Amino acid sequence: MTRRGPVSISNAGEKGLPTPSPDALAHSERVRSLIVERISAAGGWISFAEYMQLALYAPALGYYSAGAAKFGGEGDFVTAPLISPLFSRTCARRISSWLGGTGTDAVLEFGPGTGRFAADALEVLTEPGSALRRYALLEVSGDLRARQVETLHSMTGVEWINELPRGFRGVVFANEVLDALPCERFVVRGETWWRLGVGLGASGFEWRVRPPDGAAPGDAEFIEAAEQRIKDLLLHDEILPEGYCGEWHPWLDGWMSALSAAMDRGVVLLADYGLPRLHLMHPDRIQGSLRCHYRHYAHGDPFLLPGLGDITAWVDFSAVAESASRAGFKVTGFTTQAAFLMGAGIEQELQIMATGLDPASPDYLSLAHGARTLLLPGEMGESVKFMMLTRNLDEGEIADEPSFSLRDLRDSL
Ligand SMILES: C[S@@+](CC[C@H](N)C(=O)[O-])C[C@H]1O[C@@H](n2cnc3c(N)ncnc32)[C@H](O)[C@@H]1O
Repeated sequence: MTRRGPVSISNAGEKGLPTPSPDALAHSERVRSLIVERISAAGGWISFAEYMQLALYAPALGYYSAGAAKFGGEGDFVTAPLISPLFSRTCARRISSWLGGTGTDAVLEFGPGTGRFAADALEVLTEPGSALRRYALLEVSGDLRARQVETLHSMTGVEWINELPRGFRGVVFANEVLDALPCERFVVRGETWWRLGVGLGASGFEWRVRPPDGAAPGDAEFIEAAEQRIKDLLLHDEILPEGYCGEWHPWLDGWMSALSAAMDRGVVLLADYGLPRLHLMHPDRIQGSLRCHYRHYAHGDPFLLPGLGDITAWVDFSAVAESASRAGFKVTGFTTQAAFLMGAGIEQELQIMATGLDPASPDYLSLAHGARTLLLPGEMGESVKFMMLTRNLDEGEIADEPSFSLRDLRDSL
């Protein structure tokens, strides 16, 4: 199952999920204890963003920080670079062209996961004539960084960085990173939006709703973000119904302004499961987009086995565009994964990779299967979106970008 694939069970509980090993259960218990301590110290309530931050990124304990398999057959989900090298190679063709067009020579990848994207992209980015001189990886998880080193140790020009560089010139790439950032949850109560956070009940973690009355950290930021969204939806005659539950990523603005401050000039390419705000915050999506993944099962209960599974929420690409514009980027493109990959030349890449292969061979069939999963609307083709941002580029440095001109969706943002 892809990371944000269709939900196969609606309520996890003990039903359907594979049983974790005793060691895994003991690990989850340690994560649970840490979060219980935090909730108690905070007076009985923490925001969902804080819960998610701890469950995913608590040092040495969180899902991404600790040693769970996470990706691939042994793990909980797969991402596009693991589905097929066609994804990474096709993206790399455009990245290579942008480096050449802007006279820059560096790539910075955020949240590289297993390092698979870098490994396959570097085959294209190091072809003769390529401008690439430096490929930097920025990863918050020590466990994943160790795996990336294992995958990429023999490649020249690859380096790991612990913080954003200064004066970066080149191309920044992030696949499925924004939807892994902690999200705030809200529920519509009467005329206002209330915070949906986490408290302690008799049988464990519980959803707790409270008005943003200034008593909890982050209330003021919540009110500001909620009011902006309510106003924006009203402009389109949209009022979310009573009980509607949704999410946003409160640290997006900070992420974007830090990136902008680090970047002198170049291109940012973002790929994630997500939608423009009007489609994401639509009355039909009354339960929001929060999803959890454990051993290729998708479910909706983030309190189940904390530290053992992934938690994610779809990205509001209107918010990404707003943050980016505020931070001084230009939103140069927005489209679906299928349109991006088709415009970027996935067919030519398929031809290159399939040359000499017997159409009945496992390698050929795997390429064909990968292309279908990446492109089909019911798979990843429509639900994953690509956004291109540019910073301090002159007119014409990147003109008529083919990967975004096939289907320009910027009007929907
Ligand atoms: C869902 S995984 C995607 C991994 C990889 N990009 C792929 O497509 O397979 C999310 C990745 O983002 C990393 N991550 C989350 N927050 C981050 C941040 N603020 N800076 C850098 N990496 C981050 C996680 O540790 C993980 O490697």
